[in-house]
Amino acid sequence: MCPAIAVSAPVGVMDSGVGGLTVLKHLTRQLPHEHFIYFADSAYAPYGNQSAVKIQQRCFTIAETLIAQGAKALVVACNTATAAAITPMREHFPLPIIGMEPAVKPAAAASKNNIIGVLATTGTLQSAQFAALLEHYGHGVQVVTQACVGLVERIEQGLLDQPETITLLNTYCQPLIDAGADTIVLGCTHYPFVRTHIQKIVGPDVTLIDTGAAVAKRLQQILTQQDLLNTTSDQGQLQFLTSGKEETQAIMRQLWQML
Ligand code: DGL
Repeated sequence: MCPAIAVSAPVGVMDSGVGGLTVLKHLTRQLPHEHFIYFADSAYAPYGNQSAVKIQQRCFTIAETLIAQGAKALVVACNTATAAAITPMREHFPLPIIGMEPAVKPAAAASKNNIIGVLATTGTLQSAQFAALLEHYGHGVQVVTQACVGLVERIEQGLLDQPETITLLNTYCQPLIDAGADTIVLGCTHYPFVRTHIQKIVGPDVTLIDTGAAVAKRLQQILTQQDLLNTTSDQGQLQFLTSGKEETQAIMRQLWQML
């Protein structure tokens, strides 16, 4: 039998790097009394061009670290890691694990002209999970996908506003603009950090969708169902861990302030 888990235990949140902070912000807003431990695997980022086996190994190592710190649930705040590792993680670890996938379903529902764009990593776009997502929700809509190679590396360094970053964003948004997409999915948790630039490039009439808020609602639902919600009225605490260099802590703090 598993020992009883204290409701005051933290929720572990993981990403290849700083991207999952955009999800953590939603989690802390939705669940202000929960404690969270965030793990940025910045020494191994980006995940987007790595094999599923390698990503699974990293996810298992991080999950073990977070569970050793007492985590009562895990949020895989990374589309790429979810696609590569969520199934074996759920089979192996006996705690609730919430993942995320590009918001194709809400985008298809929101689109007026039935043309949607998806910006994501190569790993996410090539995954079986993404193919299944299109199979389920992509009928009747034209889905234009674009892998944003090199973008995560720049966000990891905090280079959000540099001309090279804007050039990359212009390059990756152009095929979606050309196709006439009226709704664009930010299918990687790093991308909300450059949301303002993307919006400027694609224009104010295009709707940008990400999944942070939906993941926060899902976590709340699961914690409630499993009697794991923290019952205190105190403000939850945040702890930030990283496999990256010392400067990653400073970048994480800087990015966290921006959200
Ligand atoms: N933030 C990640 C995602 O949502 C992964 C980015 C990467 O490491 O390539 O897909």
